[in-house]
Amino acid sequence: MPSDAFVAQLNEQIGHEFAAHQQYVACAVYYDAETLPQLARFFYAQALEERDHAMMMVQYLIDADVQAVVPGVEAPQVVFADIVAPVALALAQEKKVSAQINALAALARSESDYTSEQFLQWFIKEQVEEVATMSDLLRVVERSRNDVMEVENYMAREQSGSEGADPTAPRPAGA
Ligand SMILES: [Fe+2]
Ligand SMILES: [Fe+2]
Repeated sequence: MPSDAFVAQLNEQIGHEFAAHQQYVACAVYYDAETLPQLARFFYAQALEERDHAMMMVQYLIDADVQAVVPGVEAPQVVFADIVAPVALALAQEKKVSAQINALAALARSESDYTSEQFLQWFIKEQVEEVATMSDLLRVVERSRNDVMEVENYMAREQSGSEGADPTAPRPAGA
């Protein structure tokens, strides 16, 4: 059974994942309002992934027969200086989450809670992908900040959302 300290920290992480969901919805709405449908579609999809991350953690706590707390979240940033800013924010957020997930894994290991440590392995792998995706995208939007259609073409070509279901992913609660 996970320790009280681990449960508290995972519940905090659920809050971070829901906050990431809200932030990506805000990014998507910004791009949608700017009539950049490919960037909008990408961030709407990323938002749903963040919700799934939160709900996977909720399911884990339910399965472990400990309390899962559904948190309130802080308001996301909704005003952006230019089309680069949401991506820069997203990359910083993903780097922060990677550190948080690593800290959770370290806590689980220090408590010899190998079940929780194993649960976190999928998230460690996922964070490597998310940081890579956002840093690629940041490079593209920075290079093409004066030619937004170039960015839209890149998104249509490289981020068409054809990832498919990951059979190794933990089950989100309610799915
Ligand atoms: Fe996440
Ligand atoms: Fe993420």
